[in-house]
Amino acid sequence: MEENKRFYVTTPIYYPSDKLHIGHTYCTVATDTIARYHRLKGEEVLFLTGTDEHGQKIENKAKEAGVTPQEFVDNIVEGPRGVRDLWKLMNISNDRFIRTTDDYHVKAIQRIFKKMYDNGDIYKGSYKGKYCTPCESFWTESQLKDGCCPDCGRPVTDAEEEAYFFRLSKYADRVRDLLENTDFLEPRSRVNEMVRNFIDPGLEDLCVSRTSFTWGIPVDFDPKHVVYVWVDALSNYITALGYENDKYDDYKKWWPGVNIVGKEIVRFHSIIWPAMLMSLGEPLPKKCFGHGWLLLDGGKMSKSKGNVVDPYLLAEMFGVDALRFFLMRTFPFGSDGNFSNELLIQTINVDLANDLGNLLSRTTAMVGKYFGGQLPAGSGITADESQLASLIRMGSTVELTAPEGEVDPVLYDAQLVSAASALRNIYENEMEHFAPHKALEEIFKVIQRANKYIDENAPWALAKDMDANGDRLAHVLYNLLETTRVCGILLTPFMPESMAKLFSQIGAPAEAQTWDSADLWGSLPENVTVTKGENLFPRVDMESALTELEAAAAEAKKATLPAIELEPQLEEKVDFDTFCKSDFRVVKVKACEAVKKSDKLLRFTLDDGTGTDRQILSGIHKFYEPEQLVGKNLVAIVNLPPRKMMGHESNGMLLSAIHTEKGEEKLHLMMVDDSIPAGAKLC
Ligand code: MSP
Repeated sequence: MEENKRFYVTTPIYYPSDKLHIGHTYCTVATDTIARYHRLKGEEVLFLTGTDEHGQKIENKAKEAGVTPQEFVDNIVEGPRGVRDLWKLMNISNDRFIRTTDDYHVKAIQRIFKKMYDNGDIYKGSYKGKYCTPCESFWTESQLKDGCCPDCGRPVTDAEEEAYFFRLSKYADRVRDLLENTDFLEPRSRVNEMVRNFIDPGLEDLCVSRTSFTWGIPVDFDPKHVVYVWVDALSNYITALGYENDKYDDYKKWWPGVNIVGKEIVRFHSIIWPAMLMSLGEPLPKKCFGHGWLLLDGGKMSKSKGNVVDPYLLAEMFGVDALRFFLMRTFPFGSDGNFSNELLIQTINVDLANDLGNLLSRTTAMVGKYFGGQLPAGSGITADESQLASLIRMGSTVELTAPEGEVDPVLYDAQLVSAASALRNIYENEMEHFAPHKALEEIFKVIQRANKYIDENAPWALAKDMDANGDRLAHVLYNLLETTRVCGILLTPFMPESMAKLFSQIGAPAEAQTWDSADLWGSLPENVTVTKGENLFPRVDMESALTELEAAAAEAKKATLPAIELEPQLEEKVDFDTFCKSDFRVVKVKACEAVKKSDKLLRFTLDDGTGTDRQILSGIHKFYEPEQLVGKNLVAIVNLPPRKMMGHESNGMLLSAIHTEKGEEKLHLMMVDDSIPAGAKLC
């Protein structure tokens, strides 16, 4: 057990400008998994997440919504299905949650700003440049891409204002050294990106105050300025520990920590943030890991594109652990990956239902069926296996192959024991290198090996002669329980709730669920009580799940559509004489029927006051059944030229009022009072 080791880890603090989506969930689940892994190892862990609540974008959003910025962010952070609820649902084990509108943070930021002003690293100047409001970022002309923001591709605006500047340029050499000569920033490919794009062209001083809006932390010694939102936001990693405030008092204990962030904000975390800390004379972060993006159809997910994936929906449909697992298993942590519902369902079915689910259910079922839920004494680890396991644990490689075609049950045991005994070290190495996807890959290799072991040993055949094979069968099942246990421990950071259930099904006591015991083959007592419980990972029917998801997505989209949409009014004017040429009359419906072979058309026989029936066809069957309309007084224009529709002549057109409601077209025929005689002219 690595005692007294401390691990402080953070997610970015998210903008509560909209509900969070699967991309934010991805980063938070990954960080949670890493935090839980360190706790599993016995380290003391502090895991921080939170929300970044200031800035012009939030101010604008609140204005649009007709509420104050504080009310706006309160709702998204604390309200129903808000940020807090989402992390609770996803079983996120953060120890602290910081909101940049928290009082203690606000005061600390004012002190931090003043400290850098006092030491000469912040000075007053005038800012001329290009500003991207959605990203809250200033850019120089040379950084723009096709004249637009290089991050989000949206147009930028010219901005000039009196502003405070941070002497970022002063720290260029030290930041370059940090990036190039240490392993502070990972993956390594991001180092080249940062150096080439930002350091090589020359670091310019950074504008760190704004006067063009007010939703921010005022500079206390010059209150018409608010602190630039990134200075406010980045400092959260230390204010949440009590830096320059007395809400907490463990800055010294926890800092420096590990900042996990998405690739698009690596620039802020690997250049500006270290430079700020250098200016403050504080230790630099231990690490910045820049993970990749989840893409949709190869492109960015964004609320404005209307293509965000709702984590609530997926967690509710497939289960929180299945969703957590999918996110970590499928996408290499440092690279981009394409999200799709098909991939999610496939991963659940292949890895969880088939591989892990089958191993657990077959093993527990067989212990129940053949031994009444408890293996006999002597079924556990053998002396040879114990020796093998410790060799493997110490890193020896052992040749374990039988001559071609030879069946050797003891060799199968040895292969399984050595695969499971080597697992914890391999897993640890991957997790330490921020490669949870690789750690999972290794676990699943062992799970697949165990399923193969079932086939190799054919327990059902052994069970046919319990007198002769009972001992062997018990040992086979013990080895399967042991493998399940080891994998269960290492899967706990990924799927905490399901693994607790798995331990209860295989009867593993607390001491056999620990990090240490994951490396000690044979830790499961022979006589545990095994129960075949609920199926932890039911198979998902691909087609019906996809249909359900599509329907839910359509429903959700509808909810975001405006309640009522009206046709725009025409700009073009018609003169009065032209208008008077249209002959509108009250017409009474004498008969109405659906036109054969058409799902739209209704054929009306109308009394128009002339004594001769008038026939009009109208494509409104979607909105009315014929029998609803007989006897009604409607309005028609009667001097349109005749028109043939589906072989019937139509003489005129019925008038209706139309609008769109929640994206759906609505139509109401103009109906007038019954007392008005047919043929009355409207003018
Ligand atoms: N508020 C800033 C961060 C300040 S940290 C001091 C911010 N917020 S954000 O709401 O835009 O969240 C950005 C982070 O969310 C990304 O860095 C990433 O971790 C995560 N993701 C958002 N969309 C994502 C994907 N499509 N895919 C993966 N992660 C994504 O930037």
